[in-house]
Amino acid sequence: MPADVTWRLNNEHATPTQLGIRYPIFLAPMAGITTPELASLVCEAGGLGALGLGASDACHAEAAINATQRLTSKPFQVNFFCHRVAPLDPQKGQAWREYLAPFFARFQQPTPTTLSAPYRAFDEDPALLEVILATRPAVVSFHFGLPSTATLRALRQAKIPYWVSVTRLSEARYAEEQGCSAVIAQGIEAGGHRATFDPLCEAGLGTTELLGHLIPHLKIPIISAGGIVNGQQIEACLTQGASAAQLGTAFIPCRESAASEAVRQRLRVAKETQITDVISGRPARGIVGPWQQDVDHPRRPEHAGYPYSYALAKQLAKLASQYGNVEYEVCWAGSGVAHLRHLDAGPLMTQLIAELTASAN
Ligand SMILES: Cc1cc2nc3c(=O)[nH]c(=O)nc-3n(C[C@H](O)[C@H](O)[C@H](O)COP(=O)(O)O)c2cc1C
Repeated sequence: MPADVTWRLNNEHATPTQLGIRYPIFLAPMAGITTPELASLVCEAGGLGALGLGASDACHAEAAINATQRLTSKPFQVNFFCHRVAPLDPQKGQAWREYLAPFFARFQQPTPTTLSAPYRAFDEDPALLEVILATRPAVVSFHFGLPSTATLRALRQAKIPYWVSVTRLSEARYAEEQGCSAVIAQGIEAGGHRATFDPLCEAGLGTTELLGHLIPHLKIPIISAGGIVNGQQIEACLTQGASAAQLGTAFIPCRESAASEAVRQRLRVAKETQITDVISGRPARGIVGPWQQDVDHPRRPEHAGYPYSYALAKQLAKLASQYGNVEYEVCWAGSGVAHLRHLDAGPLMTQLIAELTASAN
């Protein structure tokens, strides 16, 4: 199995070849969840670790990359957001604040008066590119599209490979044209934000279906993601033609993740997940709770847009938790949530590798 994987990643585009990854098991970059400890343990176990730095400023991103490089000499992936930046529409912002007012009132507070983006897109902060060029992570990946052609040129000149998450063939073809070394094919089962370049344009393809759409048309390696929680599923992706599988939700319960105690508890009992855009302003899959059941009402106004809505969601979640209500805490998770192992990163990797090896033989 390991030799086969190395071979599959080994084409002229695929700088992953030089990554020397032993097993085709990739930790998904998850902003707010992945840590240097988690990333390095996945690397040391023979997979590809990842840092989700989309919500980080340059200072934090640099510190996280340096910390991971201190913990492992093996390659890992770092990830940033490339959402199209639009100013807040004041009317939409006002309507959304008014709509959420009764939810804030449940916890004796008015809705906050200001609404600002909690973080910036990769191209909005040139210092992030500087950090990448200085720290030279093995791979940089992007979510919600790609950065500017100038940024991509700078990465190519620096010989730093870049990947992007895609949800349909047209995005994948564009990624290949733009010099991506690989694509992450994110199926609809995936936890967290839909990677669609345009948030209003959802192809709705499942992980298996999406892979089937991409394989006949792409020359670059495809990394499959969405709802994968065990080695048998990883092997199924490889058999279908993926070069590797990227798992997010499976790693959230690991002790080494940054998940809060409330998120860990909800993951233990959760059975159902659902996609909604009311939390952040972009469609994302998470554990079903009041956001999906109450806030996402058929008669609600349009939300304030991404990432402005997210700022309000985080404030409501914080307020609710002060009253002992953790149901509003954002709990992104994929459709495999009912089958999580709740192991630490090392034992989880051992189990995934054993299952993968057994099902490949
Ligand atoms: C909690 C959480 C946070 C995520 N954050 C990011 C992120 O920052 N960047 C990114 O590219 N993908 C992010 N994703 C999506 C993952 O990259 C991946 O597509 C997804 O985890 C795969 O589905 P799974 O969770 O069912 O394994 C996140 C997913 C989750 C569950």
